[in-house]
Amino acid sequence: MNSNIEAAELNMEEADELKYSRTIEDLPGPKGIPFFGNQLQMLGSQWHVTLSNYIREFGPIYRLNAFGIPIVVISDRAAISSLLKDRPESFERSRGLRMRMNELKVGGVFTAEGEDWRKQRKLVTGGLSVEVIRNFFPTMGMMTQRMVDRWKATLADGKRVDLRRDLKALALDIIVGIAMGYDLNVVSDDSHPLQHDLDSLMRRLASRGTSLYPYWRRFRLPVDRAADQSAHDVEQTVLRLIGETRERMKQQPHLREDPTNMLEAMIVASEDPESDFSDQDLVSNAIASVVGGIDTTANSIAWMINLLAQNPEAATKLTAEVDAVLGDVRMSREWEQMKLLPYLDAAHSETQRLRSSTPFLGLLAKADCVVADTFLPKGMVIFVPTTFGDGLDETQFPQHEQFQPERWIFEHKPQKDEDPARKVFPFGGGQRLCPGRFLALIEVKVVVSAIMRNFELEFDTTAPPVQQVMTFFMGPSAVPVRLRSRT
Ligand code: HEM
Repeated sequence: MNSNIEAAELNMEEADELKYSRTIEDLPGPKGIPFFGNQLQMLGSQWHVTLSNYIREFGPIYRLNAFGIPIVVISDRAAISSLLKDRPESFERSRGLRMRMNELKVGGVFTAEGEDWRKQRKLVTGGLSVEVIRNFFPTMGMMTQRMVDRWKATLADGKRVDLRRDLKALALDIIVGIAMGYDLNVVSDDSHPLQHDLDSLMRRLASRGTSLYPYWRRFRLPVDRAADQSAHDVEQTVLRLIGETRERMKQQPHLREDPTNMLEAMIVASEDPESDFSDQDLVSNAIASVVGGIDTTANSIAWMINLLAQNPEAATKLTAEVDAVLGDVRMSREWEQMKLLPYLDAAHSETQRLRSSTPFLGLLAKADCVVADTFLPKGMVIFVPTTFGDGLDETQFPQHEQFQPERWIFEHKPQKDEDPARKVFPFGGGQRLCPGRFLALIEVKVVVSAIMRNFELEFDTTAPPVQQVMTFFMGPSAVPVRLRSRT
């Protein structure tokens, strides 16, 4: 990256004490058109690619304008790190996103700020602790086995597996399983009303994010009324599941000591007399976790399968690692094996670098401040790339377009500046770092190790090129990969 700015300098002081040498007017940026500014470049399913290309063109800090409102895009990694760390005190999530998520009742901790955020965060991190994930591990294995069995039957019938559909169904089964303690089994049957309602909410969230005007705040179209109904139905379902889980915990008191899913853990936390968690907190965070955990992991796995199928050498190395760790069994049933898959870890990091499912984060300055020697006024909207800054920079990652898991494997721990993990932010940073990252990593390991142990991947070279498609999260347009059962 053409880094012409100094290391991040982030001052949140009285405006007249701030020191800086430039303002947003001095920053480079793409030309806009009258009235719209650059808004039209920020619409559609490829806006993240456009913003990422501008980083190469305009450097580590540039300006955009949406209907006359300035936005800065900052990709200098020291600045990103400081911005992310300085939350919730000095920066918050962008307000448009928060409003859209809250309108559909899917916000929870993601949209909370200040003291409310601290409270919600405690609930969610407790619910997604290592112990809870370890206790849920056998269920995750059972759900993955169900998908593998289905794929084997499909191949035995001479049919093709729809990887894109099935990977999303499995991610949904797993996240609803852990967050709500319920086995949807969408992998086998996609007619469950909860799946339909969650799909409807995700579609509305995505389409409202790219709408030029928030018309739904003035009038409701049938799709908006359907989404309202879905939001209501999901809420009622989670309330019912909370009731059933409380009942089960009465019958099986050991679950209090050793919760097997996030909902049980959150119920235990809410019963602590020191806490003041309401059932509404439990509901909104179970839903927020499901929303945060479906497409992020499904897309990551889908991208990884695409990348492995296009890079047979990496696929062969991964298969050898998985075979050595799993031995005679076809599916990992042992928690300890999760620590023995360094190449899979590396393939996951490399997938995040190249194809982040959350390529940009939107922040808002809570007061006048200076970032990277630039004065940013209170209310300034700031976009930061999670991995498309240094992650796609040739000087930081030579041959950056290539999928090379080896970049993440070292004999000795690298120097701070050389450590690739410090150059990208796939799970964000600071106190708001993704609380689902450990779950995501375990899920990727369980699912991908099962796929590699049971199948060979063959990329369909006749298929149209795979596009990066941004809806609410970024995923591949397709997974044109044929599976062959390994004997
Ligand atoms: C590969 C998978 C995933 C990726 C790439 C990912 C990425 C992210 C990113 C970039 C953020 C923003 C962090 C920040 O603002 O600094 C985030 C936040 C969040 N993620 Fe994830 N995530 C993944 C999986 C999950 C899963 C499985 C869950 C749920 C179990 C989850 C739940 C959340 C929640 C609740 C937040 C909001 C945290 C807060 O505001 O304090 N994520 N995630």
